[in-house]
Amino acid sequence: MVNILQEAMITLLFLAALVQTGLSQRLMGSLLKNHVPQENTWKTIFVKQKVDHFAFDRASQERLFSQKILINLDHWKPGGALFFYTGNEGAIELFAQNTGFIFDIAPAFDAAVVFAEHRYYGVSMPFGSLNESFSDWTKSRYLTVEQAMADFAENIVWLRKTYFKSDDYVTRVITFGGSYGGMLAAWMRAKYPGLVQGAIAASAPVWMFPGMSQDTAAPYRLITEVFRDAQSDCPAKISKSWDMITKMGGTKTGRNQLSKLFRTCKQLDSDGVVALSNWLNGMYFDMAMVNYPYPTSFLADLPAWPVKEFCKRTNVSDDVITTIAAGAQMYSNYTGQLRCLDLDSDPAGDLGMTGWDFQACLEMILPISSNRSTDMFPDEQFDLESYVAYCEERWNSTARPFWLKYYFGGGDGYDFSGFSNIFFSNGRLDPWAVGGTALILDEDICLSDCPNVLIEDGAHHLDLRSSNPADPESVLMARKLEVEAIKRWTSPPATKVEL
Ligand SMILES: *[C@@H]1O[C@H](CO)[C@@H](O)[C@H](O)[C@H]1NC(C)=O
Ligand SMILES: *[C@@H]1O[C@H](CO)[C@@H](O)[C@H](O)[C@H]1NC(C)=O
Ligand SMILES: *[C@@H]1O[C@H](CO)[C@@H](O)[C@H](O)[C@H]1NC(C)=O
Ligand SMILES: *[C@@H]1O[C@H](CO)[C@@H](O)[C@H](O)[C@H]1NC(C)=O
Ligand SMILES: *[C@@H]1O[C@H](CO)[C@@H](O)[C@H](O)[C@H]1NC(C)=O
Repeated sequence: MVNILQEAMITLLFLAALVQTGLSQRLMGSLLKNHVPQENTWKTIFVKQKVDHFAFDRASQERLFSQKILINLDHWKPGGALFFYTGNEGAIELFAQNTGFIFDIAPAFDAAVVFAEHRYYGVSMPFGSLNESFSDWTKSRYLTVEQAMADFAENIVWLRKTYFKSDDYVTRVITFGGSYGGMLAAWMRAKYPGLVQGAIAASAPVWMFPGMSQDTAAPYRLITEVFRDAQSDCPAKISKSWDMITKMGGTKTGRNQLSKLFRTCKQLDSDGVVALSNWLNGMYFDMAMVNYPYPTSFLADLPAWPVKEFCKRTNVSDDVITTIAAGAQMYSNYTGQLRCLDLDSDPAGDLGMTGWDFQACLEMILPISSNRSTDMFPDEQFDLESYVAYCEERWNSTARPFWLKYYFGGGDGYDFSGFSNIFFSNGRLDPWAVGGTALILDEDICLSDCPNVLIEDGAHHLDLRSSNPADPESVLMARKLEVEAIKRWTSPPATKVEL
């Protein structure tokens, strides 16, 4: 079987879609590329973390690793809030660079801003290198949501007790996150209510695990609608292209043509043709996630409204494959810097794929399928049994597909009615919205104060980005509601406490 990572074409944040006989993990995409202008700055520190928070024997308690944390105190004043970004699947700088909203609002709350790297991503490797940390199950076993959240809890305690001087008390903590990070932000409030007063959970598909939502084809259906809204004939062209690529891939001449049209780094063989289809599949998914109203460099360097821009390119010729290749150029080579198309690279960049593959295989399973009669993608059924079988062999470990449903809640009969102070936002243009609460649930999903907002013109966590003149009204409104919620959760102001 092909390496799951090479098949994985979707983006980071999560995801899982079956590709051919194999499976592909789609990261949800919270990941970003690095060449964003750096307006916000931070200090980088490393803290010691326990490899295993849940074993009390001395040897376990003494086994430590270094976790990276970014801190900005420009606007912090004693008594101010702590805004804590719960890092997700990638190097933490990527999130800091693409989550300008937190910096934008910090002054209004005298807030310290902290971004904490998730274990097993970036440089926060429990066993030295990435390779070593995933070398066998005795090393990879500490990559769980529960361990990562315990890291964040320890970070918050340490920041309060040690980092901020005793006079400079900090007792109002708001967690923030997008995508998988948004789930973590929400779950931190749910599981550590004594440490976290409220959470901003943007584009977090908390309602998408096995046994919660049975409509696994919904993300690809939504993507198809987004492309149709951009240009009505666009989905039909994409839909037609899959068989044509397969057919051309059947002959040497056809493979040469494909290699040339898509300017692939390697001359395509038959595996390469499959890789090309998978790459394109991931590209559409990612493009829908980052379908932002202004140019960004989140998953790739892209113009404003890239979906529309892609569809426009499909007008260049009557030949479908030529038009798809022109559109793929727009996605992969907008800056004109790309020498050739590397199909081994993920359309979403190369962030944290090993760790995400592990998580999406064993604990964070997010079922996704496609169906060519209802969307523009090839048929891919999601079969939990074969998915799990593949993953268990790949990681020599046991998957727990239903664990998160019971641990955090979600789905019928396991709702969030015990939670409070969590702001859920989803973008109507975002494929992950189908696993988010705003599309699925009514207002009242918690015991108290869980705003549940659908951002009409928003793709994947647009609300977390810095404000921009091109921001649609709907995202301005969401940010305003988020600020109001944080005001409720941070008042009255902190009083000094003995820690
Ligand atoms: C990690 O392992 C892979 C394959 O085993 C190897 O190709 C690569 O060079 C290693 N990377 C490092 C940094 O050791
Ligand atoms: C592309 O073609 C479609 C239909 O063929 C048309 O509706 C659309 O306006 C065209 N777009 C551009 C930018 O030419
Ligand atoms: C990227 O764009 C530049 C400028 O248009 C072009 O010279 C180059 O061939 C393109 N690269 C690929 C891989 O298409
Ligand atoms: C695709 O959708 C159609 C219509 O809803 C349904 O009859 C069919 O079983 C689905 N196919 C797959 C592979 O799920
Ligand atoms: C898988 O794990 C078992 C122990 O649970 C070990 O005996 C076996 O060697 C491992 N297999 C591989 C391929 O690493």
